[in-house]
Amino acid sequence: MGLIQHKREAYWFYRFLSLGYDRRVNPLFWTPEMRDQALAPARLEDPQLSVLDAGAGTGFTTEGIVERVPAASVTMLDQSPHQLARARAKPALGDCPKVLGDAEQLPFEDDRFDRYVSAGSIEYWPDPQRGISEAYRVIKQGGVATVIGPVRPANRIARRLAETWMLFPGADEYERWFRRAGFRDVRSVPLAPDWYRDDRGPYALAVSGVKPSPGKPLVTERIEDPPVGPLRFAARFVAGSVAGLVFVPIAIALTLRRRGDRADAPTPKP
Ligand SMILES: C[S@@+](CC[C@H](N)C(=O)[O-])C[C@H]1O[C@@H](n2cnc3c(N)ncnc32)[C@H](O)[C@@H]1O
Repeated sequence: MGLIQHKREAYWFYRFLSLGYDRRVNPLFWTPEMRDQALAPARLEDPQLSVLDAGAGTGFTTEGIVERVPAASVTMLDQSPHQLARARAKPALGDCPKVLGDAEQLPFEDDRFDRYVSAGSIEYWPDPQRGISEAYRVIKQGGVATVIGPVRPANRIARRLAETWMLFPGADEYERWFRRAGFRDVRSVPLAPDWYRDDRGPYALAVSGVKPSPGKPLVTERIEDPPVGPLRFAARFVAGSVAGLVFVPIAIALTLRRRGDRADAPTPKP
């Protein structure tokens, strides 16, 4: 398990990361173009839909959802009060109900929403099967759940760092969790920022599935996040955060290289 793939560690990680999340993190790793591609399989065409955004954070993905569905029908849930505080400051999200809560134990009744979206949050869940089963439980029959998350890097060093930091599942694992929960019509859309160039596999996926019948998921077993003492917590938090933050200079370097390549490319003749 990744060192930050625990609720308490994720809470403290976002206590600090929320300070620069919108300005410094998302432009590198989760862009508006990726968001548009990821929201296509979420099937948000009907403005009457009710939507849950789980792990909504500062609301970057929610901002894409409210372009399609009225904000009052889009509930934002996150376990970080600091991330939600940033979302509260955004006028476009003013009408979204905001709930402090756990994506692995959603405080909603069965069959409540038409759509479930979760972007960039699964990597912090200690029990991803439980989070996906919860997505299944809270949507209505015929509803669609879409989970957007990173994929295990093909590069050996990147994989080592990534897995020290948090959860980077294989594409097959995402689909297996969806099927085990009971979803049908499970599909994956590959996503990547424009600096990413590894042909061996996708950078991230938007995985979606349809709930075929009302009620509970097929799998409801739980793996509890065991309590840890303060020393172990501190060690996990520091080492996991360092492993994660290494990706920031790498992404900046690759972005600059990409810009340089673009500037060097010959201008097409009219
Ligand atoms: C990378 S941010 C993504 C935020 C947002 N979805 C976006 O698209 O920018 C991950 C978010 O997941 C939240 N999170 C992590 N574990 C969670 C859990 N178990 N329940 C609810 N939120 C969680 C974090 O607090 C954080 O705000």
